[in-house]
Amino acid sequence: MRIGLIGSGGREHAIAKILAKNRGRDSLYVYGSHLNPGIQKLAALSSVGSMQDVETMKDFFTGNKVELVVVGPEVPLIAGVSDRLRRQGIRVMGPTQAQAHLEGDKVFMRDLLRRRVQKGSPQWKEVRDVETARNFIREVGQVAVKPIGLTGGKGVSVMGVHFQTIDEALERVQTSLEQDGVVLLEERLIGEEFSRMAFVADGKIMGMPVAQDFKYAYDGDQGGMTGGMGAYSMADGSMPFLTKDDLQEADLILQLTVNAIEEETGAGYRGFLYGQFITTAHGVRVIEYNVRLGDPEAINMMALLDTDAPEFFGELADGQLRKENAAFLPQASVCKYLVPAAYPQSGSEKIVVNLKDEDVNQEGFSIIYASIIEKPQGLETLGARALAVVGIGTDAGNISAGIEALLGRIEPATLRHRKDIGDVQIIQKKVRKMESLRKGM
Ligand code: GLY
Repeated sequence: MRIGLIGSGGREHAIAKILAKNRGRDSLYVYGSHLNPGIQKLAALSSVGSMQDVETMKDFFTGNKVELVVVGPEVPLIAGVSDRLRRQGIRVMGPTQAQAHLEGDKVFMRDLLRRRVQKGSPQWKEVRDVETARNFIREVGQVAVKPIGLTGGKGVSVMGVHFQTIDEALERVQTSLEQDGVVLLEERLIGEEFSRMAFVADGKIMGMPVAQDFKYAYDGDQGGMTGGMGAYSMADGSMPFLTKDDLQEADLILQLTVNAIEEETGAGYRGFLYGQFITTAHGVRVIEYNVRLGDPEAINMMALLDTDAPEFFGELADGQLRKENAAFLPQASVCKYLVPAAYPQSGSEKIVVNLKDEDVNQEGFSIIYASIIEKPQGLETLGARALAVVGIGTDAGNISAGIEALLGRIEPATLRHRKDIGDVQIIQKKVRKMESLRKGM
């Protein structure tokens, strides 16, 4: 069977690895926004084009007689690639364009939860003028200001974190209003965030192990927001700062959301659904939904997924979810991205990196390529997250320490990473934080 993959980042390299496992490179056809050297090695053919150009994607996959397509990023889903490919008789692992609004339109998502799920949201308001924003902030106190569309994980700003005063909030509101004519304001939530991603088909969800993404640029959550500097997951599939009820509640909200979006759109949801949740002193809330896998979290999950992925993804694309056909290794995982020193600021593009797969692929670790291309002089960064190291094992702390030892030997001087992802003391701090919040301290 010929399998197609859309996307060329770290998430898609991780997906490509599991699709090519046991199948070889003859079966994989990839359409991405750049030629990822890791994916290229696994694919029969790689093509480069716009992530919005649904017609060209359709031509690429039909022309190469691809039968099943797995969609990595959100942009092609929001552009309607699943609908277009299905009309050609191609099986697609990805929700429809209408369902992708869950990620593409934050007001749609909150409104759907209000009308059909009736749980999981903080106080929120769709705002079209500054006066309404001012009144809402006076009513709820601290807020998050959220542009309604896609922001690559970097557009949301939170009072008390990214800015302090009502006037600063209103400046951000004004900027979004000038751009979009509308902005979403939400009550600020205090707690610990977690990523619960699920396979979805046949009206059901199958949750993956919980992961936690580290979004800030530097150790100790310093610096600006990034697409995610790395993530960890624990061997028991949950997080030490989560209660059993938290996880059950997150899964209930996910299931009710699937029911809601299917009722709303009149179609079965087939693909990945990623709930970015937060546990607070008052329970679990949805921060946002993504209709794709998280990046970096996908790198952790694909390293743990212990199944025949083409077979399982094919069943999901056909609207079947047989939980017995997929399993995750009962192990912990840690993924750390290596980025150009200036990231998330631009200006450090085109760094040549001399690092080989063999340098990393030892002692249970593996390398994932992302925003990097192959040039005659070596690998050249494109400016964003360049490559990642992922490891699995019995506990996150040991894996994190192992990655540190490895990177201490091989990390190119031009790249940097966060050392504290998966660190035991950081995880313990999160547990104590949640204990205090729950006790009302
Ligand atoms: N981990 C953040 C994202 O994928 O959006």
